[in-house]
Amino acid sequence: MNAPLTPGMIQDLNVPPYVQHARLIAWVGEMVALCKPDRVHWCDGSPAEYDALCQQLVDAGTLKKLNPAKRPGSFLACSDPSDVARVEDRTFICSERQQDAGPTNNWEPPAEMRAKLQPLFDGCMRGRTMYVIPFSMGPLGSPIAHIGVELSDSAYVAVNMKLMTRMGKGAIEVLGEAGEFVPCVHTVGAPLSPGQKDQTAWPCNPKLKYIVHYPETREIWSYGSGYGGNALLGKKCFALRIASTMGRDQGWLAEHMLILGVENPQGKKYHVAAAFPSACGKTNFSMLVPPAGFDGWKVTTIGDDIAWIKPGADGRLYAINPEAGYFGVAPGTNLHTNPNCMHSLDREVIFTNVALTDDGAVWWEGMEKDTGTTPAHLIDWQGKDWTPADGQAGRKAAHPNARFTVAATNNPVLDPAWDDPAGVPIDAFIFGGRRSTTVPLVTEARNWTEGVYMAATMGSETTAAAFGAQGVVRRDPFAMLPFCGYNMADYFGHWLKMGEKLQGQGARLPAIYCVNWFRKDEAGKFVWPGYGENMRVLKWMIDRVEGRAAGQSTMFGIAPRYAEINWSGLNFSPAQFDTVTRIDRDAWMQEFALHDELFAQLAQGLPSALLATRQALEQSLAAD
Ligand code: GTP
Ligand code: SPV
Ligand code: MN
Repeated sequence: MNAPLTPGMIQDLNVPPYVQHARLIAWVGEMVALCKPDRVHWCDGSPAEYDALCQQLVDAGTLKKLNPAKRPGSFLACSDPSDVARVEDRTFICSERQQDAGPTNNWEPPAEMRAKLQPLFDGCMRGRTMYVIPFSMGPLGSPIAHIGVELSDSAYVAVNMKLMTRMGKGAIEVLGEAGEFVPCVHTVGAPLSPGQKDQTAWPCNPKLKYIVHYPETREIWSYGSGYGGNALLGKKCFALRIASTMGRDQGWLAEHMLILGVENPQGKKYHVAAAFPSACGKTNFSMLVPPAGFDGWKVTTIGDDIAWIKPGADGRLYAINPEAGYFGVAPGTNLHTNPNCMHSLDREVIFTNVALTDDGAVWWEGMEKDTGTTPAHLIDWQGKDWTPADGQAGRKAAHPNARFTVAATNNPVLDPAWDDPAGVPIDAFIFGGRRSTTVPLVTEARNWTEGVYMAATMGSETTAAAFGAQGVVRRDPFAMLPFCGYNMADYFGHWLKMGEKLQGQGARLPAIYCVNWFRKDEAGKFVWPGYGENMRVLKWMIDRVEGRAAGQSTMFGIAPRYAEINWSGLNFSPAQFDTVTRIDRDAWMQEFALHDELFAQLAQGLPSALLATRQALEQSLAAD
């Protein structure tokens, strides 16, 4: 790692004069020797660089410039059909000991994985440019932020990282001459031989992908994919998988959570962090528009996907959003479901895998609710002609995991504290899966341990955010199944310990809620209206925190009485309320059997408090 730096080497590596970090330069030198790119480009993060890279991607056919009258400053990228989502079965946590990765992660011994990756990375960037992408997760210079440097042969990755993180010269300045950084190496895994041109606008390796983490040495190596969390390595790889192990070691939490501020008409403000699995409503909830009947209530966004949470000197938990942009799900987003999100997308957006309209704008399933019509003709995400008849035949114009990348500063309800290095104090945690049956609309845990139990045993129907079968219920503890960088049983223990420690300091812990917006009726339709109407549930939570709603005890925590919810402006009958809140005894017996399966899988190191909670809950179900 410590090859001596020679002036010639610095020249070959194209190192800008403001980079003074010998270890960084030496590492880039080593990676250039391994990956053998034709050129090295150090990203400074300037607007001019962003524009130039976007133009280059337009020239290469990767990006299409959208009609500036419709979507100014915006582009559309369409990926290879084999590269449309995270690849969980190709994601590895390579800790020294298998038990540190735990039974829910793919694992291989680091030495074996390194031996496998070595030949794949050897020459992997031939014919391409290596972009050196320095970035800060969290406000520049904040004591809770951390620096990463991603080396990538994808200009698409570079421009996305510009929108998603604090990227460029500022991160280099924070690093100084010897600062710590997480090294992240990414390649699309499609080297070009001399003179060879790309045959595709989305180079990737359709046959082989590896998303590899070495938690002990805090390294990330990603091969073969150019899409989302597989390639934008600051996001899931760093801010969740590597950061969760840092949090375990250092006493903090890295979570798959949105963070929002909610202010009541009296001006009192609370902060809530909520974990829902991928494509289960975090972006939506973080930008919620309170419905009629909630005059004077305001919801503002701190983050839409990831939270880093640290105990403050006052014993409270403070959260920051390590990201600076949103990589959000497009389909289903419209002016009714998420108007703030739609307004965030007015300008300066990179869309990926949505459909193109004949006038150079974009379209996705769900937009017909805004206009009342579906365009008569589109180019779908795979570049094929599409008409409403294709839609009726079940062919989607936009891929179900089509996404937008946009800077947080585009969000009209961005919280003033979103960039505050100190973070915001958390008053409540929410956990919620996508469940058509069994799990009620909302319940509150009676204590921290019960809350950890609810989060740990959460199940959710799988979505298009990950490659593979969809709509299958699986356990997704804390919405972290694909993102926890260590043993899930130890992670439960870490949450319990954090609670004990804060309680020991006399602090009032955040309340913990379990929600489910997705119960369906016999006809298979969602019963709960969801989206902005989720404000009614959020308000009940605030009432609980303020001690103004008694609720009623159920087997699975404290639930609202019908009369405790503000129904103003919505027709939702007690019978409908019963449909979304009823606790079905037989369904719950089956549910507990699934909790048992999870606990059996995680038996090694599973905290006994969770088993005790399991027994208490079942006894309470039997007694009901
Ligand atoms: P990731 O970015 O994958 O982590 O997803 P996310 O959790 O941010 O999910 P997002 O808010 O983008 O929502 C994903 C899908 O769920 C969209 O198609 C939404 O329309 C739908 N959705 C969000 N909130 C609700 C809700 O309250 N009710 C219902 N029925 N659907 C919802
Ligand atoms: C998720 O899958 O939870 C995402 C999208 O937020 S990705 O960045 O691809 O992981
Ligand atoms: Mn996510």
